[in-house]
Order: sequence, then C-alpha cells, then structure tokens
Amino acid sequence: MTLKPKVQEAVNEQIRAEFESAYLYLAMSARFEALNLRGFAHWMRVQWQEETQHALKFFDFLIRRGGTPELKALAKPEVTFETAREAFEQVLEHERYITGRIHELYELARKEHDYPLQTLLHWFIDEQVEEEEVAQEILDSLQLVEGDGPGLFMLDRELGARKAGEEEDV
Ligand code: FEO
Repeated sequence: MTLKPKVQEAVNEQIRAEFESAYLYLAMSARFEALNLRGFAHWMRVQWQEETQHALKFFDFLIRRGGTPELKALAKPEVTFETAREAFEQVLEHERYITGRIHELYELARKEHDYPLQTLLHWFIDEQVEEEEVAQEILDSLQLVEGDGPGLFMLDRELGARKAGEEEDV
C-alpha cells in the first residue's frame, strides 16, 4: 500500500525522537565519565547505540515503503544531574515520553489503515515495556544503595558489563 504523506511525516518525527534519545544518552555518558562512574558511562553508551538502531528501524521502514526519510534538527540534550539516581529518574521520564509517542503513532497507523506500520510498531510497543522496566529496575537499585559507596561501586561494575545488543536485569 502507498505510504500516506501524513504517516511519513509522523515516522520522520519519530526518527528525530529516537536520534534525540540517542543524543541524550550520549550526553549522559559524558556526564557519568565526569563523575568517575565509568560503568554507568558505558551503559549509556550502549543505550546510545540501541537508540540509533531504533531510529534506523524507522528509517529503513520508510525506504522499504518507497518513502523519504528526512533528518531533522536535534535538540541539545539537557543533562545536569549530580547523582546516578537523578540521571535514572530522567531516563525513566524520557522513556515514558517515548512510550506515549509510540502509542500515538500506533493510533495514527490504525486510523490511516497502515497495516505494515502497525506490525512494525508491535515490536516498539514491546520494546518500550522493556525500556521502562529496565530504567525502573536500575532506579530501584539506586534507591537501595543510596549513600552507600560500596553499593554504588558494585552497581557501576555491573552496568559496565553490559554488551551491545543485550538487555540486562539489575
Ligand atoms: Fe527508542 Fe529508549 O526508546
């Protein structure tokens, strides 16, 4: 089926949102390096790669449908956290925002009867459940170890072991 201009524009907006997520997590990686939390910095760098892959899934979808990906300007990430806990509060909030966007895009795909986009979005709907779950788990761990240096050190090592393309339980 032909790709409707309205659907293409919404997918292009989501490509921007996924690249902005990547940009945010790369900025967070730099901030964690400055805080000497190298495991957290590594985790954020893997997250940056993952978000780039998300953007490319939408990018490839447009190409395969005979559409035109448009790379839009990215907002400067606002990263000012002082603690890992603050960072993961921001991550959770950001992922909830992305979940909302994915659900709105799904609504549009339904309204416009774009079945291929609905199928693609099933993957993203599941992925967002996982994204929020992981952010919540790390935040829970951070709340447990708050004020405890060795606990934070252990968590930093654990997150530092994350491999690209791999989800993790904390
Ligand atoms: Fe692409 Fe973290 O959502």
